[in-house]
Formats: sequence, C-alpha cells, structure tokens
Amino acid sequence: MENTTADFRSDTVTKPTKDMLDAMTKAPIGDDVLGDDPTVKRLESIASEMFGMESGLFCPSGTMTNQIAINVHCRPGEELICSPLSHIYNYEGGGVAFNSGVQIRTGGDNYGRIFPEDIKRLIQPEIDVHAAQSSLVVVENTSNKGGGTCLGVALLKDLAAIARSNGLNYHLDGARVFNAIVRDNESSEDYNFFDTISICLSKGLGAPVGSLLLGNKDFISQGKRVRKRFGGGMRQSGYLAAAGIYALENNINRLSLDHDLAQRIFIKLSQLDFIAEIKPVQSNIVLFRVKNSTSTIDLHNHLLLRNILIILMDKDWMRIVTHLDIKEKHIQDLFEGLSTFS
Ligand SMILES: Cc1ncc(COP(=O)(O)O)c(C=O)c1O
Repeated sequence: MENTTADFRSDTVTKPTKDMLDAMTKAPIGDDVLGDDPTVKRLESIASEMFGMESGLFCPSGTMTNQIAINVHCRPGEELICSPLSHIYNYEGGGVAFNSGVQIRTGGDNYGRIFPEDIKRLIQPEIDVHAAQSSLVVVENTSNKGGGTCLGVALLKDLAAIARSNGLNYHLDGARVFNAIVRDNESSEDYNFFDTISICLSKGLGAPVGSLLLGNKDFISQGKRVRKRFGGGMRQSGYLAAAGIYALENNINRLSLDHDLAQRIFIKLSQLDFIAEIKPVQSNIVLFRVKNSTSTIDLHNHLLLRNILIILMDKDWMRIVTHLDIKEKHIQDLFEGLSTFS
C-alpha cells in the first residue's frame, strides 16, 4: 500500500522492502553471543573487508558502536577532540561521560568540519599535569548537524597524520559514510587509515536495525567484551544481519538519488521569501532556518496538517532528510506545503 505520509524527519524511518524481508527470513542463524551465527559473521567480514579493516562487530545501534569505540580507546579522565556539532557530543545522552568518564574538547566550523590547525590547538600539552590527556580524535562523515557535509578523504587523511604523530587514536562516526563515498566518488577502502570506523545500516541504506564497529582484531575482541557490558550482545541476530547484507549489496549506489532530491529541495527553499538561511546541501540532509518574522513551530504545524513530517533540530534550525521511501508524490506534497505557507 502506498504511504501517504511524506516523512522527511530522518533516513532512519525507512521500512524494509519485500526483498529485504525475504533475505531476512531465509538467513541461516545461530546464537551470536555464543559466536555461532553464520549470517552475523558474514556481515562482519563483508563490512570489514569493504573498509580494508581486519575485523567487525555487529551492534544494535550507531550510538553503541561509537560508545564502544570511545570506551576502548580512552581511559577515564582523558579527553577526546571532535566537532561541537558531532553526534557523540549532542545526541548520545552524555554517554561519553557516563559510560567512559571521558571529557570532550571541541573545534571546527559550522558545517561539522574540523581542520588540522584545530586539532593542533586542541591537543593538551603532555607535560602539563593540570591538563586532561588527549587520547582520541573523532570525526563524523557526513556531518548530520553540519547539514550532511562531506569532509573528503584528503582532509580526513591530513587529520590522521596529526592524530598519529601526537599518539592519538582516530575514530570515524560513519553513520552516513556511504553518502559521502557516493557523493565524492570515493571507495570504502580509501578509509582504512582510521583506527576504528562505525557504519550504520539503518539510515540511508534502509535496514531496520544495525551498525558495525570496524577495527583491528585486538580492538574488536576488546569491543566485544564492552558490547556485552553495555547490553548489546544479541542472540539470533542473523535475521537482522541479513538485512544489513542486503542493504550493503543493493542500496549504496542509489544514495545519489536521495542527494538529487535534496538538491531539488534546496532550490525550492531558496526561492521562498520566509527562508533566512540554508546550509550548503552536499548529500541527503537539508538544514535551514526561517526569518525572525516567521515561526518554526507554525511552519512545522502547517506541514504536519498536510501529512508532511520534518524535524526541528533546535529553536532555529529545521531539517529535511531524503531517503529510499521518499517518492515523487512526497516531494510534490512538500513543495505545495511550502508554497502555501505564509
Ligand atoms: C552521525 C550519527 N552518528 C550516530 C548516530 C546514532 O545512530 P543510532 O540512532 O543507530 O544510535 C546517528 C543517528 O542518527 C547519527 O546521525
């Protein structure tokens, strides 16, 4: 049945297709906590090979993969460096402090990018006993709160060199890394200079659940212990892993369609008088704010009445996300909803 709600809140709202569900129900399964679910093992090896990493760990969410990575990389009292817009800083429930006793130092621009000079400035002097010890750099590609910004492999590599030369580890929150790979014509193997990578299957790739943490064998075996401690060990999770395998095999290249839709939405928004600012659109996320004379709540409710869902990121910024369940009809509804707002 056709979905009449135009749900632009997030690319996490997608529902598995019939083909994905078929793949799930046919999957051979076992008990993954006991280490014998063949489909989970297959997914972990497909994903780690894609990124040129030794090993992978299937987890329930991207929050968990990030939190496990931080927990294994850092000791309590240490500090990590990231963008002030990053997911780990804004949207993981204070988990960096709660789970790992780690504090955060931030830098970079309004688009979620962080630059070599930022990292050099933010690293704490090792000889200063007053300072927390810097131990990890975390970057997010694409940057969600930055507006779907693609950081590019060249910049990410420059940051790797600085992290490395200062003895810091380097983690990628790649919840939407495939959007960046498709947009910038990169290959997943280009990313193998990270110590650890988190990828999400349940965003643009359309799986119902699941993220993977990728790293070397030793790191992943430590991560497995932390996953258990955090309550993330799953049993017959092969059914979910099968959705992930289907997503990796079928839903990466089509992300460019989502990016094209986001560009069309950018153009539409830029023609409207009540829009004050739109962040540059590079992938499937459109962040915008309205002029002071206009209420974000009124716009949100005007669209809601027409069965169009978007998200308020904070009191100023609103977000529209394109994904594989958005059809042309939803775009037309959105455009009409925007045109009839005053
Ligand atoms: C950049 C980024 N990282 C991590 C996550 C966390 O993923 P999950 O919702 O699976 O915990 C999200 C979720 O939207 C995200 O946007």
